[in-house]
Amino acid sequence: MKSYREMPAEELVKEKEQLIARYEEYKNMALSLNMTRGVPSTEQLDLASDMYDDLSSSGFLSEKGQDVRNYGVPCGIDDVRKVFAEILGTDMENVFMGNSSSLNQMFDALMRSMVFGEIESEKPWYEVEGRKWLCPAPGYDRHFRVTETLGFELIAVPMTENGPDMDVVEELVKDPKVLGIWCVPCYSNPDGIVYSEDTCRRLASMKTAAPDFRIMWDNAYVVHHITENDSEKGRIPDILSLCAEAGNPNRPYEFASSSKVTFAGGGISCFAANPDNMARAKKYLSVQAICTNKVNQLAHARYLPDKEAVDEHMKKHAQILRPKFAAVQDTLNKELGDNKDLYHWTDPKGGYFVSFYAYPGTATKIVSMCKDAGVALTPAGASFPYGKDPDDSNIRLCPSFPPVENIIKAVSILSVCAKITAIEKLLEE
Ligand SMILES: Cc1ncc(COP(=O)(O)O)c(C=O)c1O
Repeated sequence: MKSYREMPAEELVKEKEQLIARYEEYKNMALSLNMTRGVPSTEQLDLASDMYDDLSSSGFLSEKGQDVRNYGVPCGIDDVRKVFAEILGTDMENVFMGNSSSLNQMFDALMRSMVFGEIESEKPWYEVEGRKWLCPAPGYDRHFRVTETLGFELIAVPMTENGPDMDVVEELVKDPKVLGIWCVPCYSNPDGIVYSEDTCRRLASMKTAAPDFRIMWDNAYVVHHITENDSEKGRIPDILSLCAEAGNPNRPYEFASSSKVTFAGGGISCFAANPDNMARAKKYLSVQAICTNKVNQLAHARYLPDKEAVDEHMKKHAQILRPKFAAVQDTLNKELGDNKDLYHWTDPKGGYFVSFYAYPGTATKIVSMCKDAGVALTPAGASFPYGKDPDDSNIRLCPSFPPVENIIKAVSILSVCAKITAIEKLLEE
């Protein structure tokens, strides 16, 4: 079929009429489809539901003989620290185990900087008037909300296929008010981008005007490969070593969790930092809590005792996710393949999202039309600082939860709305 750009106006008008008829048909189906939830499906959660079965019969002692039911072992048991250390490519001593949420640990880390400052800070960050934070965009809306809530001005940084645009980042960090950056280096949310080694090295070695500049390195999807035999593809360098080699050992804080490995909200999480940052964090963490949930840590360690076990487990997730991500690609290709100059979308090798880029200026209308046809999509702009996509183009699709047949219907409706709105724009132009 001809692309819309090549069609004369009369043909576009006719095409639009047909699409509107299709849209009305979908509307009459009274559907209720949800593509907003970047969460594991029930089938995925079931993969680990026997995790607690043998816990009491095998006893509650860690490998070192610590009774995990009691207070103590504030950094978490080595049984899981070593698993996360292996996953993140760092030493076990650099890993602190928290409770279920890594986002919670990111918030706490930044709260410590706000109240007490970092090692090199002249004053606590709450006293830095006009403080700014770099937000590679599109990115994770909850990251942006954390730094917005803590009073930072959010500065959007464009993403490239290799990670944040480093030329832009290196310019922006010349401003002493820029105190840090959010990074999801492996299968970024929502674009699924894996940072290149060069990007990682530049982040580690760039000169920043703020001596206490921090990288929040959220490795949420480090083991979340979707495509087959891909377990090494998502591997990115260890940021702690890179920063140390570059003479900026205190720059990074790294985070990860088992939320999308075992149970979302019921897993285990960690942060990793160099010895100096770790010592500083522990000073405050030891005041905040006596210890974290080691019973859950032991259950995880017994179930997934090393990285190999984690990778095997993640292959089962991938088997469930693959047909869902393929359904998104197939439907988009079928519906919009003739018009790739108007739309584009990602085909990620891991993570939880597909990032759809509609014809500029149409995303908000697409989301609203989809809602009227019974398809809930993430609000347009949600992946940008302050919820504002300057191009009004990006829509984050979350195919993990719904069954394949619902994904096909939802993405078909999205495509119909994307076509109608693009034709409207082309006719206007
Ligand atoms: C990039 C990223 N980081 C963190 C989280 C949340 O992690 P947790 O469940 O460990 O708080 C998510 C959840 O979607 C995410 O996409």
